[in-house]
Amino acid sequence: MSKKVVVISSSPRAGGNSDTLCDEFVKGAIEAGNDAKKYFLEDIDFDSCKACYKCKTPEMKCFQDDGIEEILDDMLKADVIVYATPVYYYSMTGTLKMFFDRCYPIFNHLEDKDYYIITAVGSSNGDALTGIRSFIGFSKNPTEKAVFTVVGDAKAQPDLLKEVFDAGFNC
Ligand SMILES: Cc1cc2nc3c(=O)[nH]c(=O)nc-3n(C[C@H](O)[C@H](O)[C@H](O)COP(=O)(O)O)c2cc1C
Repeated sequence: MSKKVVVISSSPRAGGNSDTLCDEFVKGAIEAGNDAKKYFLEDIDFDSCKACYKCKTPEMKCFQDDGIEEILDDMLKADVIVYATPVYYYSMTGTLKMFFDRCYPIFNHLEDKDYYIITAVGSSNGDALTGIRSFIGFSKNPTEKAVFTVVGDAKAQPDLLKEVFDAGFNC
């Protein structure tokens, strides 16, 4: 059965290490007949959550009209969600954290999703997975399927590229 796959890429570097793995995952998922889409957050001019709590209504709408709502709608419908980040100071990017904050309208309405985490590091994840897993933990009945970590140049690691392609294919 075809699945809906949403990939959130939070590096500022299009075609960089984590973004390259995102593309492999999407390629694999599409090759297997799934409906897969990557959102490259750097391309979206969005602002922080203003903590106005206006989204905590049945409509679950943020007052900020900046393209994030489309992503959240897709995430609600998704079977599979991938969060990808380069590791900055042993943490996720500020961009991904700001995106997670903007998920406030829907974070506890995400239900029965499979999750994959992609990180790119110079040397080590440190605690970077903790914050991502905490966010995933706010959803209902989440399943963490796999974590892929690339050290150094992703494009020079064909085995890893294939592993991530296969994960997308078999997701
Ligand atoms: C601001 C900043 C902080 C970083 N902090 C870490 C770190 O704590 N640990 C690490 O292993 N690499 C760190 N790096 C290196 C990146 O994680 C690494 O270059 C990664 O491959 C970049 O991924 P990308 O190509 O997907 O953007 C940092 C890079 C930047 C720009």
